[in-house]
Amino acid sequence: MDPLVARMRPFGTTIFAEMSALAVRTGSVNLGQGFPDTDGPPEMLEAAVAAIMGGRNQYPPGPGVPELRRAIAAHQRRYWDLDYDPDGEVLVTAGATEAIAASILALCEAGDEVVCFEPYYDSYAASIALAGAVRRPVTLRAGHDGYTFDPDQLRAAFGPRTKMVLLNSPHNPTGKVFTPSELALIALLCQQHDVVAVTDEVYEHMVFDGAHTPLATLPGMRERTVRISSAGKSFSCTGWKVGWVSGPAPLVSAVLRVKQFLTYVNAGPQQPAVAVALGLPDSYFDGLAASLRDKRDRLCAGLADAGFEVFRPEGTYFVTADITPLGGTDGVDFCRALPDRCGVVAVPTQVFYDHPDAGRHLIRFAFCKRDEVLDEAVARLRKLAAA
Ligand SMILES: Cc1ncc(COP(=O)(O)O)c(C=O)c1O
Repeated sequence: MDPLVARMRPFGTTIFAEMSALAVRTGSVNLGQGFPDTDGPPEMLEAAVAAIMGGRNQYPPGPGVPELRRAIAAHQRRYWDLDYDPDGEVLVTAGATEAIAASILALCEAGDEVVCFEPYYDSYAASIALAGAVRRPVTLRAGHDGYTFDPDQLRAAFGPRTKMVLLNSPHNPTGKVFTPSELALIALLCQQHDVVAVTDEVYEHMVFDGAHTPLATLPGMRERTVRISSAGKSFSCTGWKVGWVSGPAPLVSAVLRVKQFLTYVNAGPQQPAVAVALGLPDSYFDGLAASLRDKRDRLCAGLADAGFEVFRPEGTYFVTADITPLGGTDGVDFCRALPDRCGVVAVPTQVFYDHPDAGRHLIRFAFCKRDEVLDEAVARLRKLAAA
């Protein structure tokens, strides 16, 4: 008998583990998992070394070290004109993943409903299940205008049991940046139904077309929004697992109550280093977006040459592509065969849907890799066009 609790049984090994193992076994270029292959800013790395050598190796304070909480608040004022009190409205977490889990566990009773957009980052479904809550997915559909959703499907997803909307923009895996009118509808529904918004904005500094607007900046939303971000993405240090939550004190205090029993605290010496990184000049953040924009264009052009239909992302470091023009019908089969066919690993996005048919023909590539790695992947993928 499976000892695992019933609510977690639907969640097997993540597709990333399977595909990364396949990449190693076949010597493939791994564009499956989204981690950069270069290090973050040297000022941040040096500050972490100094913190370790300077003896900052014991438990930090529960909400996070004061200089990081101050830096998080200052950064949001600087970029988004959002004001948070570093004492009470900011909480440091073990990556955005813990922030998401702790927010859902803190704010949802069993049976409460969470509206989210599918495909979604894979921890969402598991965290909702752990809380005994119920997900109400709204489908993002790929088309000539990129990914869009049916506003009526969103309206219909809200009901008497809705407790939370969980919004990820810029969005993984589609690369969609939600538009002002889409955000306005989400904000209206949150207020009409008295619902809390949890916004996963880990890709806030990776926007290439249009602009990122935090939901919390819309009228009436700051007081009902838990905003989440992560150093892993903004400073290319995914292994550090330093994330944060900002929001009104009652919501942040609820999330802290859960976080303290999940990890208590995390990343003592990395926290002051992330404070340094958040204070870097605009040129760092502009440079990150500019470099990723070039990489997006490089990979999108290569994928189109190889014969895919490409859905050009407006943000993040992911691009999705339709396998139909290459004769593919099922992304899982296609991705399992791709290493043998041409030595490249991608991930099928159907595993991030409750309705997999909507994404059966779609696969995702990560472009947060050195140019020579992207060029090698593209050269290999061209073999598909020749086949
Ligand atoms: C949308 C989204 N949220 C959260 C995370 C996880 O962030 P962290 O590594 O800080 O836990 C990721 C990582 O891929 C992500 O894509």
